Amino acid sequence: MKVGILGSGEVAKALAAGFLKHGHEVMLGTRTTSKLAEWAAKNPGAIVAGFAATARFGELVVLAVKGSAAADALRDAGAANLAGKPVIDATNPIADAPPAHGVLKFFTSLDESLMERLQREFGAARFVKAFNSVGNACMVDPRFKGGRPTMFICGNDEAAKQLVSGILDQFGWETADMGRVEAARAIEPLCMLWCIPGLLQNDWTHAFKLLTTR
Ligand SMILES: NC(=O)c1ccc[n+]([C@@H]2O[C@H](COP(=O)([O-])OP(=O)(O)OC[C@H]3O[C@@H](n4cnc5c(N)ncnc54)[C@H](OP(=O)(O)O)[C@@H]3O)[C@@H](O)[C@H]2O)c1
Repeated sequence: MKVGILGSGEVAKALAAGFLKHGHEVMLGTRTTSKLAEWAAKNPGAIVAGFAATARFGELVVLAVKGSAAADALRDAGAANLAGKPVIDATNPIADAPPAHGVLKFFTSLDESLMERLQREFGAARFVKAFNSVGNACMVDPRFKGGRPTMFICGNDEAAKQLVSGILDQFGWETADMGRVEAARAIEPLCMLWCIPGLLQNDWTHAFKLLTTR
């Protein structure tokens, strides 16, 4: 697939490397292409461009920018370039205020997630929350003693979620589909939980796994 990744940070780079490794075509989008020159030299095959060109390129779009800039980045990318496309939303609505005893602060509430805001503004894009509840180092081909970890996803479009489940399987994850966009109210705060051992004990080596009696 042609994958357009909006972002130049660690998540964008980790997912780009994963998509390249698994045989996809990748473009990374940033406001400042020069900041990715060194990375692009080390990752032949990846193209670096602006947000709009990247969204236009992608049959699948990945949103991997700072949560508070997510809507602005999508406005720059252009609603028309996103229309009808699956958009993996890896963002978290982390506020600028410092964490309280290892607990991150969010700028959203438990009654409205960031992905709901984005889905409302960009109604023709098919958002799927994924990759927000684990550190970038474990996003692709994770190795855990307890086996395959679980990625919690949600979104309104079944076909887009099927596509993302296939990618997660390719990347070494089990998928737990939590339903429609409102489930992002529960999935986004998993980031807070995931970060607590990191912020308190500098331990970032875990992931979530859903166990059942079935
Ligand atoms: N770090 C992790 O391990 C991790 C894990 C799971 C989820 N996440 C989430 O994934 C997202 C990306 O995280 P990250 O650590 O890779 O990077 P980040 O530092 O949170 O974000 C960097 C990206 O945000 C963009 N950005 C910042 N301000 C902007 C603005 N005003 N307008 C448009 N774009 C702007 C930057 O664009 P330019 O390239 O143009 O500068 C850059 O691409 C975040 O929402 C984060 O919460 C992170």
